Amino acid sequence: MGLEGRSLVSVWDLTCGEIRGLLEQAGEFAAAGGGGLGAGRILATLFYEPSTRTRLSFESAMLRLGGQTLGFAEAASSSVAKGESIADTVRMVGAYSDIVVQRHPWEGAAKVAADAASVPVVNAGDGGHEHPTQTLTDLFALQRRHGRLGGLTVGLCGDLKYGRTVHSLAPVLARFGSRCVCIAPPELAMPERFMAEVEELSGQRPQETADLAAALPELDCLYMTRIQKERFPDKSAYERLKGSYVVDRALLDRAPEHLSILHPLPRVDEIAPEVDADPRAAYFEQAAGGVFVRMALIAALLGLVDWPDASEEREPAQIAREQRRRRPQADVGACDNLKCVTHHEPGLAPDYLIVSDDPPLLVCEYCEWEKRPLPLSLESEG
Ligand code: CP
Repeated sequence: MGLEGRSLVSVWDLTCGEIRGLLEQAGEFAAAGGGGLGAGRILATLFYEPSTRTRLSFESAMLRLGGQTLGFAEAASSSVAKGESIADTVRMVGAYSDIVVQRHPWEGAAKVAADAASVPVVNAGDGGHEHPTQTLTDLFALQRRHGRLGGLTVGLCGDLKYGRTVHSLAPVLARFGSRCVCIAPPELAMPERFMAEVEELSGQRPQETADLAAALPELDCLYMTRIQKERFPDKSAYERLKGSYVVDRALLDRAPEHLSILHPLPRVDEIAPEVDADPRAAYFEQAAGGVFVRMALIAALLGLVDWPDASEEREPAQIAREQRRRRPQADVGACDNLKCVTHHEPGLAPDYLIVSDDPPLLVCEYCEWEKRPLPLSLESEG
């Protein structure tokens, strides 16, 4: 059965075997095309937030598979503008299509859609939470550049607080046996829940630094990210932090020859255009590969291809994560994150999960924001 009929909300929905299978299939589509596998199928794209690469590469992927597409590129042109909920929208669109791809500014919106839909739902980005198909695209680029997914040192640089792509990528790199170096100003550091997850997976806490130039010589890949202006509650903080990092030719003089430079794009000012001609710049080929990765994902979720090599067993890291996550006895109340879907979608209340005992860490099941302060019953005694 493989991946047929499943949704992709989080990178944790896939085993490493399934990810490898998707990347292999993407390579086959890149070499040989889609072969009309998707004829008669319809993909819907529901984009409540701007996008160039994700929406158009999903549409291109479906067209290259021989299928068709429908959807909207902004909420204002749909009945969402009249107040329709995420759940009702996806229930309707599921009746008009075979697979739904949704991007939404509210964190946890993808889980709401997947829970309500009768067809597979793909998370194309839910606020600052996750962007799992970008991670598949990133891994495809890493595999092509470095020939492997394990044993790499990857510098995640820029806005690690609000950047959803690094929230999805960091734990997957750890699952494949690669190491992250988190390069960010303290105000934009990687949230504790992701640091704790990577530490649990790899046995060591990722190195954290604000100094890109100092970290550069030890990297195999530099994964640059944009400072996420639209997610800052305080615009003066954005003004202070923008331009924190700029990769230019002078900086690259300190970089290894074998380095790859990735970026989910769009870039603003964090990679100077003069870098584009450097053989280490891999971000445009990374984005181009997203079409083949999304062809593979659509084909897998619609059951158009077999998965002989992908394990259907949950991997030990997934099982351990599920076993760690349990519901607290205490009543924890509303989610602290005002961008959590539970504050906007009718009929939802946050469910909290204990994800770590040491240090004690409690997260919202929808948006995964950490609860601060912890309820008294969860505070450590030390
Ligand atoms: N990488 C990415 O998500 O790009 P878009 O916002 O253009 O879709």
